[in-house]
Amino acid sequence: MEGFAGKVAVVTGAGSGIGQALAIELARSGAKVAISDVDVEGLARTEEQIKAIGAPVKADRLDVSEREAFLAYAEAVNEHFGKVNQIYNNAGIAFSGDVEVSQFKDIERIMDVDFWGVVNGTKAFLPFLIASGDGHVVNISSVFGLFAVPSQSAYNSAKFAVRGFTEALRQEMLLAGHPVKVTTVHPGGIKTAIARNATAAEGLNTAELADRFDKTARTSPRRAARIILGAVRKNKARVLVGADAKILDVIVRLTGSGYQRLIMQTLGRMTPRTTNKE
Ligand SMILES: NC(=O)c1ccc[n+]([C@@H]2O[C@H](COP(=O)([O-])OP(=O)(O)OC[C@H]3O[C@@H](n4cnc5c(N)ncnc54)[C@H](O)[C@@H]3O)[C@@H](O)[C@H]2O)c1
Repeated sequence: MEGFAGKVAVVTGAGSGIGQALAIELARSGAKVAISDVDVEGLARTEEQIKAIGAPVKADRLDVSEREAFLAYAEAVNEHFGKVNQIYNNAGIAFSGDVEVSQFKDIERIMDVDFWGVVNGTKAFLPFLIASGDGHVVNISSVFGLFAVPSQSAYNSAKFAVRGFTEALRQEMLLAGHPVKVTTVHPGGIKTAIARNATAAEGLNTAELADRFDKTARTSPRRAARIILGAVRKNKARVLVGADAKILDVIVRLTGSGYQRLIMQTLGRMTPRTTNKE
């Protein structure tokens, strides 16, 4: 894949799944990569693979929800490579639980990582992306940023918010004439550790939820990364990853708010849940 030679790309949550695959594909495509994660072991595995490719790599522990650390990290990456062209705000976590039984702290944690992590990364790197003369912000939302699902209110909130934030940013960069492209990514089910790493409201069996996810996720992380990078090269505003994402997007657009009834009749009844009545 061409188009990334000499570019400096930052990938958060690069120790696993989509982030790891993105970092490796970027390195294969000639980019210099700054990778980070809270999982330092996973991060070291990604770093090893990038070194084997022969690409320059800077690996750091970074919690995307820690704003001050993110701001200092952006300075350090710019200092290390001399410029920054792209940020992939990818780090994310999942949580299952109906609103009725979710704790405030569970919802806040999802917003802190999945929404504020994206805002922190975008704001920390934006000045450097503008200064590079050829910048790109790539924010990972989800199909759950296009439609809502029972038990996913926290994750839905964060991913809808990422979509709104990123779509506004794209228009702002164009209106301001800044040399920064902006892409929102909506993956369908990707075969990663996300469900194994997820938490859930009391009474829900996370292993069972993960088993269900593993049976339905169809797209490999490598395929997802290649689709995302293809869209970045074409400066797409929105990228849907996987056939499931494309089908669901069409259903939502065709049915308007009517999709909610369809989801309740299918997914909603299939998904294990717990409420205060049980
Ligand atoms: N897998 C899917 O089906 C799917 C679908 C839609 C969207 N997504 C999104 O894709 C992104 C990547 O997820 P994935 O599927 O590769 O999951 P994953 O669990 O395999 O990888 C996520 C990585 O993010 C890291 N991380 C978690 N919290 C962090 C924090 N506070 N700071 C820094 N790193 C942190 C984890 O340690 C992990 O290495 C997430 O934003 C997720 O919401 C995934």
